[in-house]
Amino acid sequence: MKKVIGIIGSLRTDSVHRTLFKEYQHLAQENFELTEGEIKALPLFNQDLQTPKDATELATQIDDADGVIFFSPEYNYSIPGVLKNAIDWLSRDERQPFDRKPSTIIGASPGNVGTARMQYHLRQVGVYLNLSILNKPEVMIGKAFDKITNGKITDESTVEFLQKHVKAFSEHLSRT
Ligand code: FNR
Repeated sequence: MKKVIGIIGSLRTDSVHRTLFKEYQHLAQENFELTEGEIKALPLFNQDLQTPKDATELATQIDDADGVIFFSPEYNYSIPGVLKNAIDWLSRDERQPFDRKPSTIIGASPGNVGTARMQYHLRQVGVYLNLSILNKPEVMIGKAFDKITNGKITDESTVEFLQKHVKAFSEHLSRT
């Protein structure tokens, strides 16, 4: 079975993106194995520091995996600092774990736009990293607090859409 690493761009306990990660892990279980790549222990990127063990371990996890999924909120119309920080550490690993790696982005927001602005910034970063990001379907879940409550996706059409996305991403994993 293919292995995929999920990186969650929010560190808070009740994060809707952590809920999305867990629910997506369940929806994808017959297609691929989704495991978290943890970023919370990474220090702020500083070229004066030796690469921390946690960054090297995460790079190994990604290098060994068939794909990567970013579950991320939008902060101030862009990529959350914690996620960009992790990407900056990983980008310095000599194995270049993101190079040609099949990936996709899943985001949700309380407003209507569903993290679109963050996603296009992340896609731009992905060009430099040479990530192979799935173009469609895009997953931009608006009005998220109406659809994701108490650690569950309560909106049936969102579940159905994510199930379709699992299929599309599985095909992307096989193609690349
Ligand atoms: C936000 N939020 C937000 N939402 C959005 O749609 N566009 C934005 O630019 C921002 N900016 C922003 C900045 C900061 C610092 C915070 C803390 C929040 C709201 C955000 O979408 C909301 O808090 C989500 O619930 C965050 O995702 P998690 O933590 O629930 O996964």
